[in-house]
Amino acid sequence: MNEKLYVFDTTLRDGEQVPGCQLNTTEKIEVARMLESLGVDVIEAGFPVSSPGDFASVQAISKAVSLPTICALTRAVKRDIDVAADALSLARHGRIHTGIGVSTYHIYDKLKSNPEEILKRAVEAVKYALRYVEDVEFYAEDAGRADNEYLARVVEAVIKAGATVVNIPDTTGYCLPDQYGAKIRYLMENVDGIHNAIISTHCHNDLGMATANTLAGVLNGARQVEVTINGIGERAGNTSLEEVVMALRCHKTSGIDTEIDARLITKASHLVSSLMNMPVQPNKAIVGRNAFAHSSGIHQDGVLKNRENYEIIDPKEVGVDESVIALTARSGRAALNYHLELLGYRLEANELDEVYGKFLQLADSKKDIRDDDLLTLVGNIDGGNTNSIRLNYLQVVTGSLVPTATVSISFGDHEQMASATGNGPVDAAVNAIKKMIREKVRIQEFLIQSMTRGSDDVGRVHIQVKRDGRTVHGFAANTDVVWAAVEAFVDALRKLNVSERLDPQFAIRQIRNKIVAKIKQ
Ligand code: KIV
Ligand code: ZN
Repeated sequence: MNEKLYVFDTTLRDGEQVPGCQLNTTEKIEVARMLESLGVDVIEAGFPVSSPGDFASVQAISKAVSLPTICALTRAVKRDIDVAADALSLARHGRIHTGIGVSTYHIYDKLKSNPEEILKRAVEAVKYALRYVEDVEFYAEDAGRADNEYLARVVEAVIKAGATVVNIPDTTGYCLPDQYGAKIRYLMENVDGIHNAIISTHCHNDLGMATANTLAGVLNGARQVEVTINGIGERAGNTSLEEVVMALRCHKTSGIDTEIDARLITKASHLVSSLMNMPVQPNKAIVGRNAFAHSSGIHQDGVLKNRENYEIIDPKEVGVDESVIALTARSGRAALNYHLELLGYRLEANELDEVYGKFLQLADSKKDIRDDDLLTLVGNIDGGNTNSIRLNYLQVVTGSLVPTATVSISFGDHEQMASATGNGPVDAAVNAIKKMIREKVRIQEFLIQSMTRGSDDVGRVHIQVKRDGRTVHGFAANTDVVWAAVEAFVDALRKLNVSERLDPQFAIRQIRNKIVAKIKQ
């Protein structure tokens, strides 16, 4: 039986402090519900005294979510604690997270105080919070740079005052894993009554050490981790939930595990990324677009023989359908054959050699090799898809009117046009295009990134679209982001080989033309 590690998610508090990532209350509730499904133990919902919006969000999340503990942040200030308690009044399990700086920087330069005075304020804040709730967490801000002996005195005093959890933040992301691990060990060995509270890690990623430091803390006695989805947070971010959860699942020897339902990790990552407008870097561990994509020939061959040759996590474990075997100039025959088989072609070795030669030539001149390119290579010159789809024309109306789009698409040499409304110009255009295709498709991910900065910037769009269990990625870039978004959608449809939904009049005309042509023969 594993020892339980509590997961304290601070996406909605520390994560939300990122400039430009602020969420409204409705969006915060959506994230909180996702966190509840994921199985986090504590949701830090906000810092109520900081703004009426944060107060309202903590209150709304307290009502909307019932399984996890709902936590509100305060400074070691009575008014902060009063306001937090008020915001938490409807929570089934409420926790106040109060604290103060304990490094010499914070004690002297920020708080203009001294160690004894800080210790007194820490104890008073915990006692005051306990008047409102039974569960009080104390944070020793900048503990990463604090003197261990003084830190131990503070931790001992707040536990004696009744703190149920003590958080040891590496606020500036300064520590190395052995230093942070040793700090937690020092507290475990030198604080009287340490077992009366849970020790928590809270690591920032300024040196890229957040996950390593968190794990070092856990291996030395911490039993709560403070994390965010996708590792978002101030500056270089916080420890990412998905990395800690999967590191412990991969290394079961630790005997410590969380109760997170990892199959929802990818969904949670997409939700937070899209609501917060914060794209996930493609090579991000666990949740990056390339986390399960293989592009070099040697790796592709290895993965196709046995996934575990190059993957330590089964993508399904984190909610990803399958690994991606990307076709690039570095791909080998195994990858090419794999894709051809998916398209229904079984080639003999000599045929494969011939197609592989042509494939390499094409791959040298074209970054993105698509299914229709492969079909062309195997001799099906029109790509097996007479309806090679192309965006011709796009007109959108937006602003104070209902967003409306008119789109013209070519399927081979036949052009169609449709209009639709939506909740924005891209949604309207996508709805118009859906009217013109026969297959049901679903957009799973939609990311817009600017390449540089400024309003004249080029927007790069990545879109992930699924049809009948098959997922493809569409890409486009343009200074007009709406055009780029629609073109990326069309690019994905092209890869899915969708076909045109013919309007009855056109179908009748086509049949008539065929009959006339036959008669003329
Ligand atoms: O990084 C930090 O020290 C914090 C505390 C407020 C918990 O976020
Ligand atoms: Zn923090």
